[in-house]
Amino acid sequence: MEFPAALVNALRQAQRVSALTGAGVSQESGLRTFRDAQDGLWAQFRPEDLATPQAFQRNPKLVWDWYAWRRAKVREAKPNAAHLSLVELARLVPHFILITQNVDGLHQAAGSPRVIELHGNIRRVRCSVCGKPHSEWDESEAEVPRCNTCGGLLRPDVVWFGESLPASELDTAFEAARNSQIFFSIGTSGVVQPAASLAYYAKQNGALVVEINAEPTPLTPSADFSFQGKAGEVLPALVKVTFSKQ
Ligand code: APR
Repeated sequence: MEFPAALVNALRQAQRVSALTGAGVSQESGLRTFRDAQDGLWAQFRPEDLATPQAFQRNPKLVWDWYAWRRAKVREAKPNAAHLSLVELARLVPHFILITQNVDGLHQAAGSPRVIELHGNIRRVRCSVCGKPHSEWDESEAEVPRCNTCGGLLRPDVVWFGESLPASELDTAFEAARNSQIFFSIGTSGVVQPAASLAYYAKQNGALVVEINAEPTPLTPSADFSFQGKAGEVLPALVKVTFSKQ
């Protein structure tokens, strides 16, 4: 796979690089992206109808079961070459910051040393009332498990539609975008705010924006470099060309 010398040279010399990842990075690990149709039992629902505080209020058991089903899928999934090449980049670039919209924890599983999780993590569970984190709960219950302190219903520690993102992670992400010399947008449709603004903010502050995605997105016309393809193929190839000994 060919890469423009301008990109290879810039990446080779870059001190500060950031990457924003979306569901497309986990697609080759067998996890559906958000805009893929759901499969099987859940095909009748749209994520937008399940991943909201209102849906949880209306039918906590349905929402809890959907996340339990996704948690089981995530546990079976293995990091793919895209995740691993981001671990490689963190080793090769002096200041590399990885920001993800994904809640599957596969970046951490791959060995990424620091992951800014904008939308939380499906493997974590907290009380929906007092917020207490829970590392274990009784999954066999017919009802949604409850907090062992206040008795509130437990919920996945993820950001639902309409909820605000964790402030410190969001600040860190925008600061990383502001300071980056190169900003990667990988495997994301770039339609959900505020994450979708990061690439434009990076560009406004002088970064080269590199998009790697299976299909064009609203960001594509503004990207300095845009590669249409699988993250698990394009990113490892770029890292290899850039950092392999000449
Ligand atoms: N390699 C690269 N890109 C891929 C691959 C792949 N193997 N497979 C799919 N894609 C692309 C799709 O073409 C799509 O543009 O990944 C993108 C995934 O987009 P979405 O499904 O919209 O996922 P994402 O952008 O992460 O969604 C952002 O929206 O649903 C909310 O909170 C949820 O974090 C999610 C956010």
